[in-house]
Parts: sequence; C-alpha cells; structure tokens
Amino acid sequence: MSETHASKQIDHVMHEHRLFPPSKEFSNKARISTAEQYQEMYDRAKNDPDGFWGELGRNELHWFKPFDSVYERNGDVATWFGGGQTNLSYNCLDAQIAGGRGDRIAILWEGEPGETLTLTYTELHRQVCKFANVLKSLGINKGDVVSIYMPMTPELAIAMLACARIGAIHSVIFAGFSAEAIADRNQDARAKIQLTADGLWRRGKVLKLKDTVDQALLKSPTVQHCVVLKRIDRECSMQAGRDIWWHEAMESASADCPATPLDSEATSFILYTSGSTGKPKGIRHTTAGYNLWVKKTFEWVFDHRDSDIFWCTADCGWITGHSYVVYGPLSNGATVMMYEGAPNFPAEDRFWSIIERHKVTILYTAPTAIRAFIKWGDQHVDAHDLSSLRLLGTVGEGINPEAWMWYHRKIGGERCPIVDTWWQTETGGILMSPLPGVTATKPGSCTRPLPGVVPMIVDEELQPVEPNHGGMLCISQPWPGMLRGIWGDDERFHEQYWARVPNNYLTGDNARLDRDGYYWIMGRIDDVINVSGHRLSTIEVESALVSHPMVAEAAAVGRPDDIKGQAIAVFVSIKGSGSTAGLADELKAHVRKEIGALAVPDDIRFTSSLPKTRSGKIMRRLLRDIASGKAETSQDTSTLEDYTILAKLRSDEE
Ligand code: WTA
Repeated sequence: MSETHASKQIDHVMHEHRLFPPSKEFSNKARISTAEQYQEMYDRAKNDPDGFWGELGRNELHWFKPFDSVYERNGDVATWFGGGQTNLSYNCLDAQIAGGRGDRIAILWEGEPGETLTLTYTELHRQVCKFANVLKSLGINKGDVVSIYMPMTPELAIAMLACARIGAIHSVIFAGFSAEAIADRNQDARAKIQLTADGLWRRGKVLKLKDTVDQALLKSPTVQHCVVLKRIDRECSMQAGRDIWWHEAMESASADCPATPLDSEATSFILYTSGSTGKPKGIRHTTAGYNLWVKKTFEWVFDHRDSDIFWCTADCGWITGHSYVVYGPLSNGATVMMYEGAPNFPAEDRFWSIIERHKVTILYTAPTAIRAFIKWGDQHVDAHDLSSLRLLGTVGEGINPEAWMWYHRKIGGERCPIVDTWWQTETGGILMSPLPGVTATKPGSCTRPLPGVVPMIVDEELQPVEPNHGGMLCISQPWPGMLRGIWGDDERFHEQYWARVPNNYLTGDNARLDRDGYYWIMGRIDDVINVSGHRLSTIEVESALVSHPMVAEAAAVGRPDDIKGQAIAVFVSIKGSGSTAGLADELKAHVRKEIGALAVPDDIRFTSSLPKTRSGKIMRRLLRDIASGKAETSQDTSTLEDYTILAKLRSDEE
C-alpha cells in the first residue's frame, strides 16, 4: 500500500487466494460455458449498448407496440425502449402459456405448518386475471398505488402480478413491519388500497397481520379499501364498507382480464428501503427495462434449465423476492419454490428437508441464513439428501470466506458452483456475479460485472484507484434495470446517487478490484473504520474473525480514539455454548496472523446475537453507538429486527 493514498483509499488487508473453477460437467451443459462467450457479450453490451439491448429487448419481451429507441440519457438516468408498450404480467404468464408452458408448475408452495400447493402457469394466469378484476372492481386503475402486506403465500405473487397486469403500482411491505412503518409508507406512496391477510405463521405462532393493518389504516387516509386473505382462519374485525374478504371477492370475479399495454417507462412498483438516515425511500422501477434485466440476469446467473426447481428464500417484501421469486423466474417460465415460514420450524433442518422433498436444484439464500445454519450445527444438514442441488447462490451481504467454504462443502457437496451476487434494491437485479459455467470463483468475491454493467472505483477525490486498492464503487453506464427515481423526492434521488460523482451512479458501497479483474465488495462507505489514517473495511476484519473455528458471526465498527482517530470494536457471537475465557486474546492474535497488526481489534465483546435489519443485514451503525458508549442511539431503529438486542448489548457492558 502506498502511503500517499492512505487517507483517500481503503486499505486492503485480506488475502484470499483459493480458486474454484466450475467442473467440466457443469460447464459443458451451461448456457454460457466459455470465457470467450462472456467476454464477447460483455464487450458488445459496453461498446454497442443500442445493438445489444435492442436485440434482446425485441426478442425477449412481448410488445403490444414496438419501441422506437433503445435508450436515451435523460438527466441522471436513462430511459429505455421509448415508444414501446409491454406488460410484466403478460411476459410472466400469457407469453409462457403461448410458448407451450401452460401445464408447467409455476409456483410450488409450502406453508409453515406443512401443507403444499402447486400452481401451473395456466392456473396462476387464471387467478391473476381474477384478482386483477377484483382490483378493478374496487376502483383501482393504471397508476394507482396498491399497498401489499401479506404472508409468503401464492396470493402474494398473485397480487403483485395482478397489479402489473392492469398497470397499478405495487408497494410490498414486508409482513414483519410495524403499523407505524406501514402507515408511513402508505402515506408517502398515497396508497389507494391495502391488501393483507388475517395472519401468518411464524415459528408456529400466529402473527395477526390484520390487527396491525387496522392500526396502520387509522393513519393511512388515502386507503379506501382493504382486501383480506384468510390464511389462518381466525376471527378478525372487518370494517363494513372498507374491508373485503379475498375469497369472497374472487368467487364472483371473471377470469377474463387481458393485460393492459403499458409504456416501457411506466412505473411497475415502488419498494421502500431504509436509507442510512431519515425516512425510508420509495425506490421506483419501470416496466420494460426492469423486466428485461431480471429476465436475462436470472437466465445468465442461474443458468436456468427447464428441469430446475429454483428456490430463492427471500420474502417478496424485499427486492430479491420481487426479482428472483416472481418476475425473473416467471418471465423465464421457471418453476419456483416458495416457502412461507421460518428456517428453524419445526426444527433447524427445515430448509434441508424442503430441498430433499421437493428436489430443489438451485438454492439462493443470504449470508445471514448461512451463518445461522453453521451455528445450528452440521447434524441438521447431515440428516438429509441434498443431491438434487446443482447450484448455490448468495445475496444481501458480503459472505465471509469461511462461511462460503462451509456452504461449498456442506451444502454444495463440493459439486455446486456458488454465485455470490452483488446488487441493490436500486439496481433492480444482479449487477455482479460469477457465471456458474464460466467463472472460477474466489470465496468472498462477487467476481465480475454482468454484460451492461460498467463499474468504476474512485477515491475520495474522485480519482480512479489502482487495482487492489479500495474506493467508492460507481456504475458508469446506464443499464435497463436501474431505478428511475425515489418516489416523490427527485432532490434526494439526485443528492444520494448522482451528485457526488457526476454522471455516475454512486452505489454507496466500497469495493476493490484485484489483479485478476475480480471485484470485492468492502461494505458501506459510511462503515469504513479509520485507524491512524488507514481506512479499513468492516468485512475484512469480520472475515478474519469468522475464520477462527469458534466464531459464528462478527461485526466490526469504529469508535472514537484520542490517539488513533478510531479504534476497532468488534462484536462476536460464538458457535455452540463454549466458554469465552481467554478467547479475546486468542482472537486478537488470530486477526494479527490473518491480516496484520493494523486490524487487531481494540475491544472485543461477546454477544449471543447481533442487531440486524429485518432482511438480515448487520446494523453496524447501531453498534457504533454502543461501542462508543452512547446510552441512547440517535439512529433510526425502525428496521431493527429485534429491539431487545440493543438493551442486551448495552447491559453486557457492565
Ligand atoms: C449489500 C439486496 C456484498 C451491499 C439485493 C448493497 C452485498 C446492499 C451483496 C443492498 C454481496 C448485497 N456482497 N454485499 N453479494 N449483496 N450486498 O438493497 O452493501 O437490500 O449495497 O439489496 O447489500 O441491499 P438491498
């Protein structure tokens, strides 16, 4: 590392040299099977985006009216397929049926109590048409916002597709958020209707969704109706004139509802994501560009084959569920596994039991889940036959190399490639990922950009950094799936993503490009730890800790230090219930050996769990407050999964 760059770039201290090329057997059958094929696509998308995307756009989507331009730069963002009209729901359903896949299973669902249900493309189409007619009968038109707060049941996907069918804009809110959070989002979006259920099953208990919604609707003046799915058959109050049962409305609804032709740039959905400060922002996505992006990225990254049973474990309340439970897989005619409940109900082997029973071939899950599985122990995995799996994926956070190795060995049987997919709510779909038949993977790296993605890494003075130095990750060229705005807040949109690095989309993540052309995501820009002028990435310190056999999870943050500027404080949860006596010193020595003296933690605290968002990301900003001894947090805690953790962590200090 050159000293002159020390304060502007991010220092890289982690060394990971293991390399895992795909097997010949996998590559031979893969849709993209050679590095040359990838390079050719990549170069064409970069140098001739008009030709590349124009051809894909024409061939891959159904057009009620053909587009007359591929893309046009329009202020910060580009607009795609201008002049054309298509429909997401049509591409996911009607186009599949027209292509002869009507009898294929679209959704293979398992509820937490254990019941299962399958829906073919024809049946899904019928239900979507019916529900679209229900929405219409309740006064929902093109451009109206539909707020969805539902369990992971097929009806959630049906609701989304029904909105898309008539050009209504859905705003899915994860069914674990509070009444306050729903009301905020409903207000911001000016939602016209609420969809919910009487309840949902979570770890064997009933979560009373309708009660929460009733509270939320007291503060959602724009919402006129509420449609309630009977999921658990419990008594719940129904307000006359406002509330309607899903099944009653569906009974009389016609199954005839042609898809509405929608402008390419029509808003398909908004999805609220918590910014690091302030109120959640409604990320706005479009119709044609988004559809093409999720369709192609699903095909490229998951190497989709007709025989696959694809299971993305994300909830539809997150972008991962939108893009890789619903729109990406269905517009490829795939069979999607959908599971309602918790991974540890009735026992910690639920995922492995689902894979074994339904013969899942592709598993796409999050590092937080993988770390939980490791903590729960191998015996839960060993009891099941996972030989149906052929490909694994991760998303949501960086994966620590040792967790990657466990996933590779224990779940993948050393046979399945792992696609570590880096992307964001804002990007619509995957931007960087290995191609499973091509890319030799390195544990902890999301490897290379997909065709159409042109990354750039700059230091704080906006100068491009040299290979192996970390800096701010930007994307230099528009891609079809990118967000088009923050709902109702153009200024925040510009400030947040475009103002700092002109003409580039600022991702908010730091990254490093290694000498082989592989990208390593180094965490959020705001989370960098600055020790004596050396800027360290959280993930590298955490990965060094996780590589110790006793450590299950770790979070590293900076706290103020008079001499060094910042000191490194780490929060560690250990595997099993062993003693932590002497472990702090051992971990310090371990980090010193793994990545060097610079990164040795000053404070180590042991904790049974870490504060996380409801989608499983470690909330380092809360830990920063605790590490620096603040009694109260000044941060927004509304997205915190378990409020009791903060109090527990604070009391551990005494
Ligand atoms: C992080 C989820 C490292 C990153 C699709 C990003 C990752 C944020 C990865 C977006 C990955 C996601 N490696 N970090 N493979 N995937 N992230 O909006 O910080 O929930 O900016 O979208 O998660 O999270 P979001």
